[in-house]
Amino acid sequence: MSKKLLFFINLFVCLSCLAFADNGYNLWLNYKLITDVSVANDYKKQLVNVYAPYQSETVGIAQSELKRATKALLNQEIKQSQTIENNSIVLLKTDDFARYSLTPRTFEKPDAFAIERKNLQNKSVILVSSPSAIGLLYGSFKLIQTLGIGEKLDNINIYESPKIQHRILNHWDNLDRTVERGYAGFSLWDWQRLPKYIDQRYIDYARANASIGINGTVLTNVNSNALILTKEWLQKVKALADTFRPYGIQVYLTARFSAPIEIGKLKTADPLNADVQLWWKNKADEIYKVIPDFGGFLVKANSEGQPGPQDYGRNHADGANMLAKALAPHGGIVMWRAFVYSNEVPEDRAKQAYNEFKPLDGKFDDNVIVQVKNGAIDFQPREPFHPLFGALPKTNTMAELQITQEYLGMATNLAYLAPLFKECLDADTYAKGKNSTVAKVVDGSLFNHKISAIAGVSNIGNDMNWCGHPLAQSNWYAFGKLAWNYGLTSEQIAREWTKLTLHTNGNSTQEVVDILIKSREAVVNYMTPLGLHHLMGWDHHYGPGPWIANKPRADWTSVYYHKADKNGIGFNRTRSGSKAVDQYHPKLANEFNSVKTCPQEYLLWFHHLPWNYKLKNGETLWNGLVKKYYQGADEVKEMQNAWNALHAEIDPEIHRSVKQLFSIQLDDAIMWRNACVLYFQQFSEQPIPAGLEKPEHDLKYYENLEFKYVPGI
Ligand code: GCU
Repeated sequence: MSKKLLFFINLFVCLSCLAFADNGYNLWLNYKLITDVSVANDYKKQLVNVYAPYQSETVGIAQSELKRATKALLNQEIKQSQTIENNSIVLLKTDDFARYSLTPRTFEKPDAFAIERKNLQNKSVILVSSPSAIGLLYGSFKLIQTLGIGEKLDNINIYESPKIQHRILNHWDNLDRTVERGYAGFSLWDWQRLPKYIDQRYIDYARANASIGINGTVLTNVNSNALILTKEWLQKVKALADTFRPYGIQVYLTARFSAPIEIGKLKTADPLNADVQLWWKNKADEIYKVIPDFGGFLVKANSEGQPGPQDYGRNHADGANMLAKALAPHGGIVMWRAFVYSNEVPEDRAKQAYNEFKPLDGKFDDNVIVQVKNGAIDFQPREPFHPLFGALPKTNTMAELQITQEYLGMATNLAYLAPLFKECLDADTYAKGKNSTVAKVVDGSLFNHKISAIAGVSNIGNDMNWCGHPLAQSNWYAFGKLAWNYGLTSEQIAREWTKLTLHTNGNSTQEVVDILIKSREAVVNYMTPLGLHHLMGWDHHYGPGPWIANKPRADWTSVYYHKADKNGIGFNRTRSGSKAVDQYHPKLANEFNSVKTCPQEYLLWFHHLPWNYKLKNGETLWNGLVKKYYQGADEVKEMQNAWNALHAEIDPEIHRSVKQLFSIQLDDAIMWRNACVLYFQQFSEQPIPAGLEKPEHDLKYYENLEFKYVPGI
């Protein structure tokens, strides 16, 4: 073979590798040719045309998504037709049912949809129907996902209605494009080039969100900057809102409470001051002129140094209602965060939000919704559900989950979060008897609330694969899917995501699912087992820091939370301690209060126990705790081995990336384990149980580790 020919062959091989390498950009919209010929042929026969009598930008998008997907999956692009043909997909709004002699059908929500096999005008079709255009887009994406996971179409019959009305991403993105607690690069929002430059990323972001039912986005950090509310910046926001609108995504902004002073030149931001009220009313009018479907404001007030109504002797309801009144004429809502705690208050931090908000129940306007984090501290690897869920029967209440892994190893460690999200949503508050789950508080059904919402703090940045860790995309996906239907299992969601994104077949899908499902518990075990919490490194929150003490705020130290000493470990939140247990329904309060009935995973959250306390399995607390730490690191090793064995089944670029990340995660897990075990050993004065390897270094070594320039601060 000539040298020249060899060169071209090599070049061809390299280029085709590049062409097939997967950089993760396409997320779960990663349409690839279906290799099972019989499945593909079956689909080809049934997906010939698309017919949509009602036209709008959104329906146009639905059609082009169907075309794009069929082209890539089947190498046969579905054709647009002007009439109903055999093997058409028909996109039909319920308004048009009569015209096609269809019996009217009730859809619970405007964005609900149905996909079913039907005979229309004597033609066998797949009918996608909904009361709204956005429902047709959701239905189209669902149909594409059905193809992507290889389900049969012959008797397709799907009906879906979102359980929660507002399904919102919270971007903690600053105007300089840094992202607070963001580990996947810089903010997507290129403010400097907006409003004129519409990055393709914005459209792809909207597609991804619409494909999982997310219908709102808060563009800016909760630690907010009033500049976003100025005329010039609102034009930039408008450009994003215009881009997202056809995908059914409403835009929201964070409102800095002191904005009337900072950009309005007023002397005060007192919510009861008439000038302040007028300023916000005018501001809302101005925003709605520019963005007629603006969603509303998200507010962090009197929390971690942010301004708020208490600066003027007013309460949270005064502040929220003032903004709510400005937005109400336009249909906007205020999401008022309950993440409040003060270092000056000599009260267990876990109790403070409840103490502030419980007395205000019933005092909030109808278009206010109180946004409550899943747990009472702060997005820890595991927390019991926040006691405010179920405690505010007269107040719209929404949940805030954190998709970005601030406390779970950032985008370096794998932690599939559906199990964490579900643990909160499925928890029973007992507020109205058995089965009063957090999910039923959040979807508004338990107390008949007027509006319902759920927020996820985004893990998205401008990294090529959006989320830093290739498998962390599953958390964005899981949030959307659970916001839409919290009844799904973590396994179902993981399986779907894996098939759609990684194109695994047969056993390898299950193997990836097993890795995902195991991952969050592994993180809990090597970071904060048995109910421990808030042990992470100072400020950046990466790596272990159980020794963190003597900082300006006690409630930002680790020793405040674990209270380890010679007598034992854990935070006594029982009736002999901070009494936090009594913020829960009596049934749960009693359960948590007694060490005999307290679930083991919350043991040290609620109890301070001696090192020789006997766990349920007969082991001492010390031995049990140490073993959990070792188990966590072992689980990472297992995940790593399972992943490495999949090298032939997964795209090489993704496989390589995750492989390297697992290697870091194993180091991290061992570091956490050794640091925490050695630190707590000073107090327990007991040996590491026999058979477990000894830490490589002494405690000083771990205490002296410094992590510079950790992202997200
Ligand atoms: C955590 C996080 C902060 C964030 C805050 C919030 O404390 O570390 O960066 O601002 O939560 O939710 O407001």
